Amino acid sequence: MIARLLVLVLATASSCANDCVPGVVRNLAVDHIANLTWNVDPNEPCPIEGFRVEVVGEDGIAALFRSSLNYIHLSFLDFCQEWQFTVAPISNGVVGFEHRLTDYIPIRQDANLTLTNLRVTHLGGKNTSLQWEMAEPFRGDCTLRYRVLVRDRQTSTSHSVYVTGRSAYLDTLAPCVPYLVSIRAVSTSLPIIEGPLAYTTFDIEAFPEDPPTLLSVDAGTTTVKMVWQLEDYMKNRCPVVNLHVDGGDFFNVTVPIEDPYYRKPVSVNLTRLHPDRMYYMKVAAENSGGISTSVPLGVQTLPLERDGEYDNLAAAGFQFQGLHRDLSWW
Ligand SMILES: *[C@@H]1O[C@H](CO)[C@@H](O)[C@H](O)[C@H]1NC(C)=O
Ligand SMILES: *[C@@H]1O[C@H](CO)[C@@H](O)[C@H](O)[C@H]1NC(C)=O
Ligand SMILES: *[C@@H]1O[C@H](CO)[C@@H](O)[C@H](O)[C@H]1NC(C)=O
Ligand SMILES: *[C@@H]1O[C@H](CO)[C@@H](O)[C@H](O)[C@H]1NC(C)=O
Ligand SMILES: *[C@@H]1O[C@H](CO)[C@@H](O)[C@H](O)[C@H]1NC(C)=O
Repeated sequence: MIARLLVLVLATASSCANDCVPGVVRNLAVDHIANLTWNVDPNEPCPIEGFRVEVVGEDGIAALFRSSLNYIHLSFLDFCQEWQFTVAPISNGVVGFEHRLTDYIPIRQDANLTLTNLRVTHLGGKNTSLQWEMAEPFRGDCTLRYRVLVRDRQTSTSHSVYVTGRSAYLDTLAPCVPYLVSIRAVSTSLPIIEGPLAYTTFDIEAFPEDPPTLLSVDAGTTTVKMVWQLEDYMKNRCPVVNLHVDGGDFFNVTVPIEDPYYRKPVSVNLTRLHPDRMYYMKVAAENSGGISTSVPLGVQTLPLERDGEYDNLAAAGFQFQGLHRDLSWW
C-alpha cells in the first residue's frame, strides 16, 4: 500500500516536470483606442497556444478572456479610468507567469474636450481665480492639461500657462486693466488633441497703489525738496489723482497729479519751514481705488547761518508743487 502511493506521487511529480511553463510576455501596453498589446519573448521555449487576459477595475473584475492573438481590443472600457491588465501565456493548457500593467486608457481622439462654465472671481487685492468645467464629464483628468492664456487688451501683451486641475490663480494681473482670458483643454497623450477655446473678458477692479518710493530728499534751512516715484503704470493702471503729504500740525498738502501713460516722478517742494527742526510726515498716493498705505518720513531742516538768514526768510513761503501745475495752499 505504502509503495503504491509513493509511485503515484512520483508519477504526478514527473508529469509536472515535463510541463512547459511559459514565461512572462513583453511590451504590455494599452493605447488610446484601448487596444491592449503584448509580445511573446523571442526566446520563449514553450509552444504558446493563447493567452489569458484579465481586466480589473476599481469595482472588481471587469472581464476575463482567452485570446489566441497577441492583442485584444477593449473598446468597451472607459477612458480616464485606471484599470489593471494581467496577461499570462498558455502552453498545453498550462497558464504561465503573469505580466501585470496598471494604466489609464488615454483620452480618445474623438473625445469632446469642450469647456463650460468659465468663471472669474476676484479674491481681493490683485488675486483672481479662474474656474471651469468639462462639458462632458470625465472620470478624473488623466492626461488632460489646460492652456490658460491671459491677454491685456490695452497693450495686447499676453502670457500663457499650462495647468492641471480645473482652476487657476492669477496674482500678477494689474488693476484697472481690461483682460481677455481663454482656456483650452489639451490631451497630452499621443496623439495630442485639443479642445475648442473657451474665453471671457474681465477687468480687475480698482485697487490702491503700492506706497510711493522716495527718490531724493534735499533739506535747506527753510525748505525740503523731495521727489517721489509712483507705482509702475504697468502694475497698477488705475488713474492716480493725488499725492498726499501729511505733516501733522505743521502742514497737510495734497499734490494733484495728472496721470499719463508714463508715470513721471512727482516733486514736492516744502517752503517756509523753521530752521533746525525735525519734521515728520506721512506720504501716500491716491488713485481711483483709494489711498495707498503711507510712507513715514522724518526730515531735519538745516540750522540758520548768520549770512544767509535774511535771504532765506525773505524767500520763504509754503509752496507745494506737483509736476504739472503749481499750487499754493497757504
Ligand atoms: C491592435 O493592435 C494589433 C497589434 O499592433 C493590431 O494588429 C490590431 O489591428 C489593433 N487593433 C485595432 C482595433 O486597431
Ligand atoms: C461637445 O459638447 C458640447 C456640450 O455638451 C456640445 O455643445 C458640442 O456640440 C459637442 N461637440 C461635439 C463635436 O460633439
Ligand atoms: C490667492 O488666493 C488663493 C486662495 O485663497 C491662495 O491660495 C493664494 O496663495 C493667493 N495668492 C496670493 C498671491 O495672495
Ligand atoms: C490731511 O488732509 C487729509 C485729506 O484732506 C485728511 O484726511 C487728514 O486728516 C489731514 N490730516 C491732518 C493732520 O489734518
Ligand atoms: C522744486 O525745486 C527744484 C529745485 O529748486 C526745482 O527744480 C523744481 O522745479 C521744483 N519743483 C516744483 C514743482 O516747482
